[in-house]
Amino acid sequence: MHVRAYRPQHDYRLILGTQCDLYQLNFPRFVCTPAFLADQAQRLRSAGRRPFENGIFILEDDTQFVGFIWVAIRMDLQGTFGSIDQVYLCEPYRHQGLAKLLLEKAHDFVEQQGLSVARLYVTASNLNAVRLYERHGYQVTRYEMEKPVRP
Ligand SMILES: CC(C)(COP(=O)(O)OP(=O)(O)OC[C@H]1O[C@@H](n2cnc3c(N)ncnc32)[C@H](O)[C@@H]1OP(=O)(O)O)[C@@H](O)C(=O)NCCC(=O)NCCS
Repeated sequence: MHVRAYRPQHDYRLILGTQCDLYQLNFPRFVCTPAFLADQAQRLRSAGRRPFENGIFILEDDTQFVGFIWVAIRMDLQGTFGSIDQVYLCEPYRHQGLAKLLLEKAHDFVEQQGLSVARLYVTASNLNAVRLYERHGYQVTRYEMEKPVRP
């Protein structure tokens, strides 16, 4: 099992192929449409052209695609930080502790860019992801709250 840098030509379709699953798992009302996939394809192409702002790393078992992480360098009112935008393991590879390899690579990338903070959003009901981030030292700093306004 090893982590390597994203190779746009080789990996683009593999990552695009995870996007419906990834969003469906995290957004209950999400519908995966061709327009969504076109947007994601565009984001991915653009990220591939900006490797210093986008750390995309692939986890492989020999040559088998196992998962990936995508950390983007972003700036907001609090300064510049590494934003863990996507982490994904193919289903058979979950619950084995493999996400650690990807997160560590992403944290290294953030550090190499001279930054000291990584931040992310996670769906509260996605307990596999919440537990993963907590194990790696992430703490809640803000809540996004919602309620149905029509009972
Ligand atoms: C989020 C995701 C990457 C987390 O992966 P994961 O496999 O659950 O997390 P880990 O690789 O850290 O595995 C840890 C789990 O495996 C268990 N485990 C089994 N063997 C292990 C080992 N040798 N070492 C460490 N943990 C092990 C741990 O007990 C832990 O289980 P727990 O969460 O019930 O306590 C994965 O669930 C996933 O790809 N989900 C779909 C995409 C997604 O929602 N991504 C996040 C939002 S972008």
